[in-house]
Amino acid sequence: SRPVRVGILGMGTVGQGTVRVLLRNAEEITRRVGRDLRVVHAAVRSPQRLQGLDFPGRVSVDPWAVVRDSEVDVLVEVMGGTGLARELILAAIDSGKHVVTANKALLAEHGNEIFAAAQRRGVMVAFEAAVAGAIPIIKAIREGLAGNRIHWLAGIINGTSNYILTQMFREGWSFAEALAKAQELGYAEADPALDVDGGDAAHKITLMASIAFGIPVDFAHCHVEGIRSLQGEDVHYAAELGYRIKLLGIARRRDDGVELRVHPTLIPQDHLLAHVEGPFNAVLADSDAAGQSLYYGRGAGGDPTASAVVADLVDVARTMTADPSNRVPHLAFQADALSPLPL
Ligand code: NDP
Ligand code: HSE
Repeated sequence: SRPVRVGILGMGTVGQGTVRVLLRNAEEITRRVGRDLRVVHAAVRSPQRLQGLDFPGRVSVDPWAVVRDSEVDVLVEVMGGTGLARELILAAIDSGKHVVTANKALLAEHGNEIFAAAQRRGVMVAFEAAVAGAIPIIKAIREGLAGNRIHWLAGIINGTSNYILTQMFREGWSFAEALAKAQELGYAEADPALDVDGGDAAHKITLMASIAFGIPVDFAHCHVEGIRSLQGEDVHYAAELGYRIKLLGIARRRDDGVELRVHPTLIPQDHLLAHVEGPFNAVLADSDAAGQSLYYGRGAGGDPTASAVVADLVDVARTMTADPSNRVPHLAFQADALSPLPL
């Protein structure tokens, strides 16, 4: 059957990572989906960004050219921002395209409008990459815990802040040095104030809470406090007392509603979350049937985030194929696939 044709808006850290992962793992992805996933068109503001990337499709400077391309079945939005990105995504939905986005700021602010538009038009808006990088946390909450009553979620969900706190503690770096390195490594937002002042974690906990508790996305009601004012001595003094400082996003079901907050938190050093270091993220969920479950992995960076974008593309492609047997893992085998080794 014909390939699923992908258009990409933005070819920075995540956009390039997505193309790399799609090319590198093309054979396995095709086997899993039953169709090729082919990037046919990308919008790049600075075409020199593509140097050294074996990009297979058309390139446009104007993102509208990708949205209006009738050959594109699925639009991947990884350019960021909440103004133009919103308009482009709504137009793509209106023209019947499925959307995959990593843009948590956009969804935290305009998610209700975007999800409603997608529902009216009967298309998917998938956003695994918007929360906790490579960790499939959206699928874990929506599918893995679907039979549970979730009591609370608590997570280290900003890789940049966690990297900064780790480098301050382990290497004695200053806040400014660690932030500069996080930017160089592609972890930070275009505006790093979102990372260090807690806004990015607030976007993410708001999205997770919406799925966990079945509530509209309500970023305005999240208490937000970041790590900007923390000094090296705070981190070391906490350690002397047996704690690590972590920026946590917390969503808790209460009798009168859902409490949402982001702030630095003292975690006892023998707690699992205290051992989450560098750009890694972890989310702890407490629910009635499963009890406590922990999800851990790389929370930021090109390939880890691309892992989640591509997982969403696979999900969309399987849905487009609409063959329920496609979702049965055993049917993904091929005659030339690896075999278990003899004992
Ligand atoms: P980058 O800044 O590395 O990439 C964004 C790209 O989009 C840049 O190449 C930029 O062009 C391009 N772009 C911006 N505006 C336009 C436009 N109007 N037309 C065409 N191209 C445009 O950001 P990231 O890849 O890091 O992040 C992208 C998105 O993914 C953001 O929403 C971010 O929050 C999210 N995200 C990022 C993660 C990460 O670890 N980096 C993890 C999870 C989500 P130019 O090169 O000219 O600036
Ligand atoms: N800036 C974000 C972070 C990227 O550091 O966690 C991943 O969402």
